[in-house]
Amino acid sequence: MRIRSFLFVALMAMVSFRVAAAGPDAAVIERGQYLMNGVVACGNCHVARGARGEPLFDKGLSGGMVFDEPAFKAYASNITPDPETGIGKWTDAQLAKAIREGVRPDNSIIGPPMPIEFYRHLSDEDLKAIIAYLRAQPPVKNLVQRSTYNMPLPPAYGPPIKSVKAPPASNKRAYGEYLAQIGHCMECHTPRDGKGMLQHGKLGAGGQVFKGPWGESVSRNLTPHPSGLKDWTDAQIVTAVREGVDRDGKPYRPPMGFGFYKTISDADMAALIAYLRSLKPQAFAGGR
Ligand code: HEC
Ligand code: HEC
Repeated sequence: MRIRSFLFVALMAMVSFRVAAAGPDAAVIERGQYLMNGVVACGNCHVARGARGEPLFDKGLSGGMVFDEPAFKAYASNITPDPETGIGKWTDAQLAKAIREGVRPDNSIIGPPMPIEFYRHLSDEDLKAIIAYLRAQPPVKNLVQRSTYNMPLPPAYGPPIKSVKAPPASNKRAYGEYLAQIGHCMECHTPRDGKGMLQHGKLGAGGQVFKGPWGESVSRNLTPHPSGLKDWTDAQIVTAVREGVDRDGKPYRPPMGFGFYKTISDADMAALIAYLRSLKPQAFAGGR
């Protein structure tokens, strides 16, 4: 009896030791999972695609989505840990540089539409969490075609980054802006000029047209203007982002990552809304 209870205690100690040892890593992966399945939504582009562009969720982030534009034909890369066709041979530092600075281990530049300008804002901690999550995924063999660019890629997206800290979550507006950066919301919700550059003076005014299998969608005005979100309640914005449903009950179309945003926490949603409500009111930048 005594021996058995001793064994039991020893066993419990072992179990709790293992949980404790796995604790910090598990928390980091969990943070990565929250970001990837939520506001960061890398999968919106990197999830595997079939011949007709349909998502193949069982093949994870093994890539293949095609972006066919006048200036480029880009294919989303395989970012599963497969050593041959994915990122399995890259070190954490190499992955960090690729995601946050757009530079691969061989020093080549990752082209659009990967939104590197926005990912430059990723905090060290969140970047680490995303990398831990990527490493924890099953490797999937999928050789993705090389992208071709009929335009020069920049030599870099900016100076090398040493360290980035996120603003404290207690500062709702600033933290909401951080979330909007790493969710690259304004990349789609800001109009572009004739050269395809974002018109930062019209931040959030919408009007970008997206053509795809869904037909044509136009990004909406997210600023507090009557043609934007001025008359929307917080609850209506939450439903739009999380459920992908308009105020009149109509579902939105891609490419906004509807489906990913379901799990954005209440606190993060409140921060995003505080940020959107702080934008300069702008008239809708779209033609329609
Ligand atoms: C809007 C679409 C889009 C989003 C969102 C996106 N990517 Fe990409 N990503 C691409 C495309 C397209 C490429 C290939 C570009 C090229 O060929 O130069 C790419 C390339 C990469 C590469 C280089 C892989 C290689 O083998 O060269 C990595 C790593 C990567 N993405 C990781 C991520 C992570 C992590 C996220 C989320 C934080 C993310 N991407 C979000 C479209 C996207
Ligand atoms: C890849 C492009 C893209 C990204 C990234 C994106 N959106 Fe959108 N969003 C759209 C498009 C396009 C629509 C309109 C879809 C339609 O009309 O069917 C839309 C619609 C919306 C709406 C509905 C507004 C209205 O007036 O009906 C809200 C709110 C919104 N987005 C907020 C966000 C937030 C917050 C983020 C970042 C977390 C974000 N979006 C990221 C493209 C994008």
